[in-house]
Amino acid sequence: MDLTPKRASESATEMVQVVLPNDANPLGYILGGTVMHLIDIAGAIACHRHTRTLLVTAAVDDLQFLHSIKVGDLIILKSRVTCVFTTSLEVQVDVFSEETLTGRRKLTSTAFLTFVAIDRDGSKVRVPPLLVETEDERRICAQAQERREMRLKRKAQTTDA
Ligand SMILES: CC(C)(COP(=O)(O)OP(=O)(O)OC[C@H]1O[C@@H](n2cnc3c(N)ncnc32)[C@H](O)[C@@H]1OP(=O)(O)O)[C@@H](O)C(=O)NCCC(=O)NCCS
Repeated sequence: MDLTPKRASESATEMVQVVLPNDANPLGYILGGTVMHLIDIAGAIACHRHTRTLLVTAAVDDLQFLHSIKVGDLIILKSRVTCVFTTSLEVQVDVFSEETLTGRRKLTSTAFLTFVAIDRDGSKVRVPPLLVETEDERRICAQAQERREMRLKRKAQTTDA
């Protein structure tokens, strides 16, 4: 297992695809479920690039759809590891729409996902540390730690119920 620390920029990922009629509801806008699927994929790719392990999605924080994305527009997903814990890591996925004819871009969602690294037997494995070098990266990781605490509290409430 290679636990060499890595920078977030080494695993940052951008996915772009055109919204086709098959992805859309009868109003001609991309389905929320399709966006969620793409968010999961974009988040997983950045985490795979960071960990080079198998992964499972442990949590997806609450998700807002700020603007609709119509058929013919591009959907762009940018994912970036924000903080690494022991066997888990958080990734941020920002979703944008882009009009093909004008290039106008809008942020449509921001999602935070947690993935857990596992081996082929399903046992959890350590993930390589994240190199946090700038003030901005330190702030982002500190915020991720606060979100993680809230998430684990919510999980405990769910499992207690
Ligand atoms: C996610 C999963 C591996 C956690 O297993 P677990 O035995 O409860 O794990 P633990 O309590 O030992 O936690 C392992 C790590 O995951 C983190 N974690 C577990 N559940 C979490 C949650 N809901 N949110 C955020 N982090 C979580 C823990 O904080 C811990 O992190 P750390 O090692 O970095 O400190 C397990 O619940 C699972 O396999 N869930 C199903 C996953 C799945 O099917 N996803 C969809 C398809 S990929």
